[in-house]
Amino acid sequence: MTPTVIRTVAELRQHVANLRASGETVALIPTMGALHDGHLSLVRKAIKDGHQSIVSIFVNPTQFNDPKDLEKYPRDEATDVALLAPLNVSAVFAPSADEMYSDGYSTTVSVSGVSEGLCGAARPGHFDGVATVVSKLLLQCLPDAAYFGKKDFQQISVINRVVIDLNIPVQIVGCPILREADGLAMSSRNVRLTEKGRIIAGQLNVVMRECAQDIAAGSKVASRLKDAKSQIMAAGFTDIDYLEMRSSADLKPIEKLDQPARLFVAAFLDNVRLIDNFEVGAEVGKRTS
Ligand code: PAJ
Repeated sequence: MTPTVIRTVAELRQHVANLRASGETVALIPTMGALHDGHLSLVRKAIKDGHQSIVSIFVNPTQFNDPKDLEKYPRDEATDVALLAPLNVSAVFAPSADEMYSDGYSTTVSVSGVSEGLCGAARPGHFDGVATVVSKLLLQCLPDAAYFGKKDFQQISVINRVVIDLNIPVQIVGCPILREADGLAMSSRNVRLTEKGRIIAGQLNVVMRECAQDIAAGSKVASRLKDAKSQIMAAGFTDIDYLEMRSSADLKPIEKLDQPARLFVAAFLDNVRLIDNFEVGAEVGKRTS
């Protein structure tokens, strides 16, 4: 069924109140649209968990540090709504930029610690924008749960910190990374790869997965990460933004595998910045991790 598209915060609150009055629980799935199976997997999980799901679609200007990136971001609401129709979502919340950021808007949610380094270093202000818009969406909707993908692991860490620090009463659910058949993490950016680039891109997952397995098996971390960097460049990537091992709990850099850890990578190919992350020491399937 084609979901109702809600444009204002007042209508969103009314919609949620109606759901609650009929005894339903509510899940929010924040997105920027250009939906693919990775996004839809979050919606399916929320519905499987028994919630009425509300998908927000808002290309948030405050999290783009590059105006050209914001301009180029794909927008096709009609296709997104059509993709959601068979899933039985309760509503789509697609506010305008004016509805989200009214005249004189001057409040920013800024998270230290987990937002530093990795994508925080490469994209100044990005996580302030994310933390601000997600705080707003959570407070506008006040869902029981909100679903996010581990594809953006640092983003989930930032959001977890925000809801604890600001006492926002919502359960944050982290969902597995959905991957293409060759292991490339699904992303709205993948369509910008050339045909050749798309083949090379699959190597990122192969190199990182082997690296995670070797570290779990006892390889020296620093030298193994260095080898992985060389392998990524040899595969045809043009640059590596970062390739690091960090603590899964607080994202602090770690040199030894003495706690649950993940490998984080951002690398360029065809001028597209691909990010991914891998649990170290866990048996991970081909399509999700
Ligand atoms: P967006 O990039 O549209 O992603 C929306 C959600 O889908 C995020 O939680 C992201 O981690 C998840 N996702 C994307 N690709 C995935 C994949 N391959 N597997 C699993 N989940 C995947 O992330 C954002 O939007 C924004 O920063 C947002 C949180 C909406 C704030 O503006």
